[in-house]
Amino acid sequence: MKISIVGTGYVGLVSGTCFADVGINVTCVDIDEKKIENLKNGIIPIYEPGLETMVHNNSEKGRLSFTTSIKESLENTDVIFIAVGTPPDEDGSADLKYVLEVARQIGKNMNHYMVVVTKSTVPIGTAQKVKAAITDELEKRGVEVDFDVASNPEFLKEGNAIEDFLKPDRIVVGTESEKAEKMMQRLYKPFLLNGHPIIFMDIPSSEMTKYAANSMLATKISFMNDMANLCEIVGADITSVRKGIGSDARIGNKFIYAGAGYGGSCFPKDVKAVIKTANDNGYSLRVLKAVEDVNNDQKHVLVSKIKEEFGYNLDKMTFALWGLSFKPKTDDMREAPSLVLIDELIKMGANVKAYDPVAMEEAERILGDKVEYGKDPYEVLIDADALIVITEWPEFRIPNFKVLEKLLKNKVIFDGRNIYDPEEIVENGFTYYSIGRKPFKP
Ligand code: UDX
Repeated sequence: MKISIVGTGYVGLVSGTCFADVGINVTCVDIDEKKIENLKNGIIPIYEPGLETMVHNNSEKGRLSFTTSIKESLENTDVIFIAVGTPPDEDGSADLKYVLEVARQIGKNMNHYMVVVTKSTVPIGTAQKVKAAITDELEKRGVEVDFDVASNPEFLKEGNAIEDFLKPDRIVVGTESEKAEKMMQRLYKPFLLNGHPIIFMDIPSSEMTKYAANSMLATKISFMNDMANLCEIVGADITSVRKGIGSDARIGNKFIYAGAGYGGSCFPKDVKAVIKTANDNGYSLRVLKAVEDVNNDQKHVLVSKIKEEFGYNLDKMTFALWGLSFKPKTDDMREAPSLVLIDELIKMGANVKAYDPVAMEEAERILGDKVEYGKDPYEVLIDADALIVITEWPEFRIPNFKVLEKLLKNKVIFDGRNIYDPEEIVENGFTYYSIGRKPFKP
């Protein structure tokens, strides 16, 4: 089989590389010449564990190639995936200009049957727009070429993307023809071992599935954060409550961790987009609006705790920040709670010294020298008034309390991810603020 993937962002590059890894001939396309040049030389544009080696191995075996030309990639292709960006425009709806431009390029250049698959997260109805754009171009050319459109949303998590792609919980495909369904079934056969299902449905349902999945996950998080805030007020501990409810199989113990709010490239954008889709159709998604509100507020929760400890005047104080990325194992800073926190601290006159194992370069691109960056977790503690943990990187989990005590001016830790055992922190003489439980003082 031969496939093409347009867009070498997160989804496109991971998908292309994983398809190549199971022996499929893959051409990845991007308009960014520099990116393609780099990829040809094995330099990848994102941080994702394992990806670089996999790109290298599959390129070497000749199964994975890169080009800037959609036309070139269409040669002998059975399936072409559109995996370009759909950035939110001002009103929150996904901007389809890149997706539809790719569709037009396909229409201008296709000469044989293929399945055109939307893999980017796109609003309901997009596959039909893709179909119309291709048909329009074919008509302009005065040629008739048979093709099908399909929708195949991606559920991969940053930091775990390869594993998620190779061993998916499920593959969702929306089609409108048996021919396309057969083609997609064949393409995904190598990933269907161990009983992972491929679920076929109509195209609008497939497009909707992606939004519903991310909305449900965002809802779980906001629900837990809301409960966490109430736990603090009534003297309960959200980590115990989490265990108490998570052992009910109907609720499940995954994705119910209270924290400093969700971020990333998907949840905030998709929640906004689906609320907008509902509004456009005269319906109000009341639950999701609350999910969004809770999350926006949750990103400020650590600042409230800092004020509780140090008062409202943080002028000239310095805070050491562990973590910058929106979650561990990625350098992605999009919608990261750290950005809101840093902004507030600076507004209140404080200085921030930050350390992140991989996201500092990316953070510097956004924040410039508003923040001081450290070489390691302990360097940023020198002369800092307190430590704040906002991303739960594994290397922050067992801190050296002796060093912490020596370097910090005050023995205070604010933990936005509940990674520490309060007893241990207090035994070491520190005051400990976390999420959804009372402050612990020695
Ligand atoms: C998410 C979806 O999981 C994935 O299926 C979809 O394809 C894209 O969006 P990702 O953005 O990589 O993936 O991150 P994820 O691991 O899901 O975490 C999202 C955010 O939720 C992070 O900010 C994380 O810190 C937060 N989170 C997650 C919590 O606050 N609590 C939890 O229990 C789980």
